[in-house]
Amino acid sequence: MSPSSANPPMRIGLLTGGGDCPGLNAVIRAVTRTARGLYGATVIGIEDGFEGLFDGRMRELEYGDVAGLIGEGGTLLGTSNKGDPWNFPLRQADGTLVISDVSERILEQIRHAALDVLMVVGGDGSMHIAQRFVERGVRVIGVPKTIDNDLAATDATFGFDTAVSIVSEAIDRLQTTASSHHRVMVIEVMGRYAGWIALAGGMAGGADTILIPEIGFSWESVFRHVEHRASRGRRFSIVCVAEGARLPEGGEVVKAFDRRRTDARQLGGIGAVVARRIEEGTGLETRVTVLGHLQRGGSPSAHDRVLATRFGVAAAHCAARGESGLMVALRGTEIVTVPISQAIATLRTVPHDHPLVLAARAVGTRFGDETAAPDGAAQALPDSEQRPGGK
Ligand code: F6P
Repeated sequence: MSPSSANPPMRIGLLTGGGDCPGLNAVIRAVTRTARGLYGATVIGIEDGFEGLFDGRMRELEYGDVAGLIGEGGTLLGTSNKGDPWNFPLRQADGTLVISDVSERILEQIRHAALDVLMVVGGDGSMHIAQRFVERGVRVIGVPKTIDNDLAATDATFGFDTAVSIVSEAIDRLQTTASSHHRVMVIEVMGRYAGWIALAGGMAGGADTILIPEIGFSWESVFRHVEHRASRGRRFSIVCVAEGARLPEGGEVVKAFDRRRTDARQLGGIGAVVARRIEEGTGLETRVTVLGHLQRGGSPSAHDRVLATRFGVAAAHCAARGESGLMVALRGTEIVTVPISQAIATLRTVPHDHPLVLAARAVGTRFGDETAAPDGAAQALPDSEQRPGGK
């Protein structure tokens, strides 16, 4: 599409929804530059996700607004995980919040701003909302983001690579203090429903045990591996646990419940439970580190900047082609489009026989599901056992 007097410039409404994620600004930059530069489109940045769309808080994004943005963490537009239009926390005159359906008001805001297409940069929750607007006749293009890497229909989301690097570096640092004090170090990382961050970050850091939602673990198995290492002179262990890992006695550890959130349960705290149980079960001194939002903050990795830019460019092309109901996605090395409905049909969780799981097991990493006693002779040693001072 190119602008002409007969065809007014296309107006793209762009919002970032859900938790922030390194690379969001790179997408905003790529969409703005491509849509304006190649297609003469107007890009309207919507503040704070669907909350801002409800309020009509939006502004045009110019070239200058996105200059120097590629390496910036966070999102220039702001984001929110409390703006599901069908479960919207609407403040009443008396100050109370009533969960309401405000989708009509949002449709009205889209018409009022004369948006031809709504571009939603978000994770699973935002894509569910996007699909509902597609079904209401809105033209929508999705761009997948989440550090959890749990969106189906794309091989990867941006933000994941950065989060994994942060976990890996954190484990490196924990290794030296763990080995100096002969302690067990438990590190809790993000990953609500999928263990990709714990798996890849734990592998990269050479964790001895990785606990993820997809692989059930037993306390006995976790204790046995820690004790086995100690009995061989390795008096420290690193246990990397995803926040969404399920306790052997059932369920995740939920920190808080907030019905205003798109996903009401706030997970967190399993690291402390695992650390306490290991100390009680083995007698070894144990500490816990919760990496939390450090995994989402700061500058995106080079990999995520490139992926986010490719997604943003592809999304702008899609909008210009007049497409709708599609999400840009990575398949192998190619950027493709997939129906948003396909992206939200399932969550992308870790298969038990995924190559990363098999590789981790091959180098001696445990997942807490082993029933046999560890056979040191038959097992390769995790990296932490090979380090100087690691005994
Ligand atoms: O979905 C991304 C994520 O970082 C999850 O890993 C985590 O459970 C959640 O967001 C935390 O959300 P919040 O920042 O709202 O506490």
